[in-house]
Amino acid sequence: MQKAIGIFDSGVGGLTVSREVIARLPHENIIYLGDTARVPYGIRSPETVTRYSFENTRFLLKQEIKVLVVACNTASAVSLAAVKKEFPMPVIGVLEPGARAAVAATKSGRIGVIGTEATIGSGAYERAIKSLDPAAEFFGLACPLFVPLAEEGWTDNEVAELVSSVYLAPLREKRIDTLVLGCTHYPLLKGVIEKVMGPGVALIDSAVETAAEVADVLAKLNWVRQAPGPGTRKYFVTDSPARFERIGKRFLGDGAVTAELVQVGGA
Ligand code: DGL
Repeated sequence: MQKAIGIFDSGVGGLTVSREVIARLPHENIIYLGDTARVPYGIRSPETVTRYSFENTRFLLKQEIKVLVVACNTASAVSLAAVKKEFPMPVIGVLEPGARAAVAATKSGRIGVIGTEATIGSGAYERAIKSLDPAAEFFGLACPLFVPLAEEGWTDNEVAELVSSVYLAPLREKRIDTLVLGCTHYPLLKGVIEKVMGPGVALIDSAVETAAEVADVLAKLNWVRQAPGPGTRKYFVTDSPARFERIGKRFLGDGAVTAELVQVGGA
């Protein structure tokens, strides 16, 4: 099917998910919306984030998409069920693929999840993990400073190391063996998180797991795009493209990003 995969995030972070979808499904057309005018979602109420999710989805639907990926962990945590109910196409969030991979990876049953305040506060990861393994022990932790660190590109310096060791100290005490990177930005800090948590803790990258789920859904529906060359990529933002383009290069990891300014909903 020629139609595109629609992906939205609160801003630039969801490009970590796009990057994995492109790596896994290079022939697919991708339309990405970064709601840069209203980022961050991680400090907002579930009602507000759900309204933003609906508006973003309506915008992407107008672009003729075949499936929707809610790349934002916060939006997935608080609004995925409502988006699935409201809109007709298949909707894939980042939370369930990460939870499934964590349950598959853990040996001790002690699983940690780090994310934004809204994601951790929603309890959605805990519910997802416990529905897969009721005996699992769950430890959630909000790490809000990781988002600006990743955007600033401070992902492997002494500031990143210090912030990580202070944030993650309580999780180290819990003797978890699996840690879900439950936020779009955290894969950029993987190196430093790995260093702080030590070799005995498996890190689960929701972006990688989500891309695998997208591939599965398309294959099951027989909607994989059959084309010889790579797919097209379009990037839309709700605020000035310059910052998105500058920071986006690092998140996407494959050359220049050009974005177009659009308006969604009331933004
Ligand atoms: N995209 C958000 C997430 O994955 C992080 C940035 C924000 O707070 O909007 O939770």
